[in-house]
Amino acid sequence: MSTSRAQPNPAAERREADVKPMQVGLLGIGTVGSGTFKVLTRNQTEIRRRAGRGIEIAMVADLDVARARSIVGEGIEVVSDARAVIANPAIDIVVELIGGYGIARQLVMEAIAAGKHVVTANKALLAVHGTEIFAAARAKGVIVAFEAAVAGGIPIIKALREGLTANRIEWIAGIINGTTNFILSEMRDKGLDFAVVLKEAQRLGYAEADPTFDIEGIDAGHKVTIMSAIAFGVPVQFDKAHVEGITKLQAADIRYAEQLGYRIKLLGITRRRDEGIELRVHPTLVPAKRLIANVEGAMNAVVVQGDAVGTTLYYGKGAGAEPTASAVVADLVDITRLHTADPDHRVPHLAFQPDELHDTPILPIEQVVTSFYLRLQVADQAGVLSRITTILAERDISIDAVLQRESAEGEKQTDLIILTHDTVEGHMRAALAAMQVLPTVLAPIVSIRKEELN
Ligand code: HSE
Repeated sequence: MSTSRAQPNPAAERREADVKPMQVGLLGIGTVGSGTFKVLTRNQTEIRRRAGRGIEIAMVADLDVARARSIVGEGIEVVSDARAVIANPAIDIVVELIGGYGIARQLVMEAIAAGKHVVTANKALLAVHGTEIFAAARAKGVIVAFEAAVAGGIPIIKALREGLTANRIEWIAGIINGTTNFILSEMRDKGLDFAVVLKEAQRLGYAEADPTFDIEGIDAGHKVTIMSAIAFGVPVQFDKAHVEGITKLQAADIRYAEQLGYRIKLLGITRRRDEGIELRVHPTLVPAKRLIANVEGAMNAVVVQGDAVGTTLYYGKGAGAEPTASAVVADLVDITRLHTADPDHRVPHLAFQPDELHDTPILPIEQVVTSFYLRLQVADQAGVLSRITTILAERDISIDAVLQRESAEGEKQTDLIILTHDTVEGHMRAALAAMQVLPTVLAPIVSIRKEELN
């Protein structure tokens, strides 16, 4: 067996010594910022060997200067004014970790105007204002990198934009919010209702004090909007996404789904159809045998279906200090490698060349095609099932399975669970309205979308 050793390369060593490390300015040093500082410091030798040049945090802006100082120690300039970082001509890359669409948007636009490359984990900002931000970056010849914005540490942006670039992407379905996946896992494991588990998740620090963005599906909506744009070459348009959270989910439906061989997950789904693009977030029944159905706790996973590669699955931590820092630092390395490349020959922000973006419509939810789980609380008497199946048949909705809870002795009502085959959502809405007014339907009908993901 022969072994080989890298030969010393004096020219490369001289070159590296001559090149000043890339100078990074952090805007905000909370959880992700301190993780970024730690990872960059701990792995600096490896990172320099990969990037061909050192990457250093030279300046940090945070309103809590004392806490920021306690994280980064001496030798790094710490300020309270983010604009001082942007104004510093020595800074090459600005890392925006403030979040939200307010001041973060202004600072990102100002950083771009000042000729800085930008790294951001801000999914809300990009899903809503991405078009304006990417256009400004292009005009200025700078890079806006955002791997950390979707599924934290999972390199899904890199996979979609580069690794799968040969493919016509057919659809993407992802568990892209850890908080809600944790809550759903707990609801299933312990048979508890949403409100009880949410309180527990807040006590344990899994859910924020104001968990609205997570539990209402908005955070997942931002992330799937970004993936959709990259997958299909359309502008980011969060306002067209259909977004439902998990707040109305009941333990009974998780139990019935289980009996029928399904798990309920909050999925972000985007799918190419002849008529347009589906873009939606909602609780979804998924066959229990699919790998994604078995992603538990706060973990994230994304399934991508490409025409050439088939089905691929990406799994990992979608949040947390170092998993998210892993994505931020990867972007810093990318920029360090690519910033000298002609801007027209870099990987485009949204994977497709900017003049090749299409205006394919995002379909309204009424035109989405999916199958359904229905739970009807009905009077347990002759003819009830037949009236319901007639209403479905009249709207061309085909039934896949029916389950009826065995009534207790003397009980006058029961639960009827129906799984349908694929149908147009508008047809199902009409059928639901017709079924709901039947005198034998005793409570609001529960309907949850179902995806076979095959
Ligand atoms: N709050 C998100 C989650 C992480 O629970 O997954 C940041 O987007």
